[in-house]
Amino acid sequence: MTDYRAVNRASWDERAPAHAASPDYGLAKFVADPGHLSDVVRFDLPLLGEIKGLRGVHLQCHIGTDTVSLARLGATMTGLDFSPPALAEGRRLAEASGTPVDFVESDLYAAPEALGRGGFDLVYTGIGALCWLPDIRRWARVVADLLRPGGRLFIREGHPMMWALPDPRPDGLLALQHPYFEQVEPEIWTEGGTYVATDAKFVHNTTHSWNHGLGETVTALIDAGMAITGLAEHDSAPWDALPGQMTLLANGEWQLTDRPERLAHTYTLQAVKTSV
Ligand SMILES: C[S@@+](CC[C@H](N)C(=O)[O-])C[C@H]1O[C@@H](n2cnc3c(N)ncnc32)[C@H](O)[C@@H]1O
Repeated sequence: MTDYRAVNRASWDERAPAHAASPDYGLAKFVADPGHLSDVVRFDLPLLGEIKGLRGVHLQCHIGTDTVSLARLGATMTGLDFSPPALAEGRRLAEASGTPVDFVESDLYAAPEALGRGGFDLVYTGIGALCWLPDIRRWARVVADLLRPGGRLFIREGHPMMWALPDPRPDGLLALQHPYFEQVEPEIWTEGGTYVATDAKFVHNTTHSWNHGLGETVTALIDAGMAITGLAEHDSAPWDALPGQMTLLANGEWQLTDRPERLAHTYTLQAVKTSV
């Protein structure tokens, strides 16, 4: 297999500064308003509950907007990502917005070596994180390794059914084109753009990604010693996941314009580490 990490990192390294400059990530709002939270974390609040005082790690934290938001809710946050330019943007944001966050460079699968085992009360991740990982069972073991017994996972992620859809069809029907279940070989994409508004032009446009069925993700967590405490499916996503078919809602979420009740766009999965 090609080194999927090198291919994907080149794409993320190039996109991180453009994302930080885009109005869609809204970095200036964090600096202007010490109470500002990302739309993603604001959406999470009812299910996330109180996190004040928790030691939290945000896996695949990208440019840190959600990491900073969680820190603003009172958690002591570490953000982990394998992209140095993304972490540089995160550090700049934390500094400029006066919100302390520790940012650590590591591949996801090496997180326990980078951060130590059993030291976290909360693992937070999602919104375009799992699709970059080939093996969901290995991811679940990383989550369990990072948590102390009784510690908690909170993930809101793109729904695998949504990831399986093709480009828009003229008849508006939702059809399945891409794998729903995890495959050994990645799907290989070559796309020049990104998911936020930007004038930036990119040269590293190939990515490798994998889908993971909801049952595969839930079972991987159970097998890693986690007890599932919540699974909610949502009829919106925080990004324009199906361009040309979605409408922007007042809360910053995107929703299928035509009969959104047909599709689970995202899910929130929560679990607690039971075994040592
Ligand atoms: C879509 S972003 C995560 C989104 C985040 N929720 C946000 O919107 O800010 C995906 C992130 O995963 C990171 N990433 C991808 N593969 C990774 C890996 N194998 N190890 C660590 N980070 C990885 C990328 O660098 C990127 O910052």
